[in-house]
Amino acid sequence: MADLSVHFLGMSFRNPVLPAAGPPGWNGEALRKCAEGGAGALVTKTISDTAAQVPHPNMAQVPGGFLNTELWSELPPEQWFEKELPLARELGLPLIVSMGYTARQIAALAPKVRPFADAIELSTHYLGDDSRPMMEAIDAAKSGAGKPVIVKLSPMRDMKAAAQAAKEAGADAIAAINSFGPAMGIDIETGQPWMGSADGYGWLSGPALRPLAVRCIFDIARTVDLPILGVGGVSRGTDAIELIMAGAWAVQVCTAVILQGHAVLGKIAGEINQWLDSHGYVNVQSVRGLAIERVSGRAGVRTQARPPEFEPELCTGCRLCEQSCVYDAIHVVDGLAQLDEALCWGCGLCVTRCKPRALSMRYD
Ligand SMILES: Cc1cc2nc3c(=O)[nH]c(=O)nc-3n(C[C@H](O)[C@H](O)[C@H](O)COP(=O)(O)O)c2cc1C
Repeated sequence: MADLSVHFLGMSFRNPVLPAAGPPGWNGEALRKCAEGGAGALVTKTISDTAAQVPHPNMAQVPGGFLNTELWSELPPEQWFEKELPLARELGLPLIVSMGYTARQIAALAPKVRPFADAIELSTHYLGDDSRPMMEAIDAAKSGAGKPVIVKLSPMRDMKAAAQAAKEAGADAIAAINSFGPAMGIDIETGQPWMGSADGYGWLSGPALRPLAVRCIFDIARTVDLPILGVGGVSRGTDAIELIMAGAWAVQVCTAVILQGHAVLGKIAGEINQWLDSHGYVNVQSVRGLAIERVSGRAGVRTQARPPEFEPELCTGCRLCEQSCVYDAIHVVDGLAQLDEALCWGCGLCVTRCKPRALSMRYD
C-alpha cells in the first residue's frame, strides 16, 4: 500500500483528494459528507461579506463537462461563523476556508474565520486580470487571519505572471484552476440557454477542463516554488495522477462530487493508491512533477516522424486505431492491427485511442 498522506502548509492530509470550493462543501453537513466520503481534508464554499444572489437555474451537465453560474456562498457569513464552521471544525480533518474577494471584504471576514481555519483559500475569480487587487487581498488575509494563504487562480489570465505576483504578495500556496469562461450551452428544444444568468453565460468545469488545468498547474510549478493544489476535471484516480505529474501536491474535486456524490472522494483516493502500487511508486511525492522532469529532459522538438511500437499480444482487434488513422497506415486483419510503417506519419493519435496499450510511443 502506497503512502497517500500529504503534508501541506503544516497540515497533514490523510490522502491527496479534497473537495473543491463549491457545492461539495456548501455547509457544515455537506462538509461532514465529504469527511465520511473519504476526503483528505476539507474546503468550504467561498464565503463573502454578503450572501450571494445566484441566478436560477445555475447548474447543467453538458457533454464532456458542466456549466454553472454560481457566485459564492448563498449563506450569510454570520451563519458560517455561528453554525457551519463550528460544525466543520468538529470533523477531525484539516479545514481550509475559502473566502472572497477584495481586500476590504477579506479584512472584515478574516478575523472571524481565524478560530476555525487551518488555512485560507482566496478566490480571485472576480478580481480581474490586474494582480494588484489580488495582492492586496493576500495581504489582508495574511494579517487578518494569521493562517497560511492559498491563492486560487482562474484560468483566464497569464498563469505564470499571476503565480509570481501571488508569491511576491506573500501567498503560501496556489490552487489552480477555477472554472473557465464565460461559456454557454443551449437547450435546443426550447432555444433557452441552460443558465439563468442575464446573458445565459456560465462557467465550464468537469472533464473538458482537465487539459487546461494540467497546463496551468505545469506552468505554475515551473514558475514558483510554492506548493500547489490541482483542480479541474478530476473524477478518477488516473486524472488525479495526471495533475500530480504536472506539479500538484494534492487535488480538489468539485464537479465529480456534484454528479456522483461525496463517496467519490474516497474512491478516487483508493484508485490513486492502486495506480501507485501497480506502478511501483511508494508515495504520492514520487510522481509529483514527473512531466516537468520529462519535458526538461527532452533533447528538443522531434520533427522526424516515428511509428509507434506495437505489441500484438495486447491487441484486441477493436479497430479504434484503424477508424481514426487518416493516413490509412493501420488495418485490422484477422482480429489484429497491422501497421504499415511506410504510411505512418507518427502523429500518435492511435496510441491515445488504444485502450489495452498495444500501441505505445518511444521517447528515447
Ligand atoms: C456549481 C459550482 C460552484 C462553484 N463554486 C465555487 C466557489 O464558491 N468558489 C470557488 O473558488 N470555486 C467554485 N467553483 C469552482 C470549483 O471549485 C473548481 O475550481 C472547478 O469547478 C474545477 O474543478 P472540477 O472540474 O472538479 O469541477 C464552483 C464550481 C461549480 C461547478
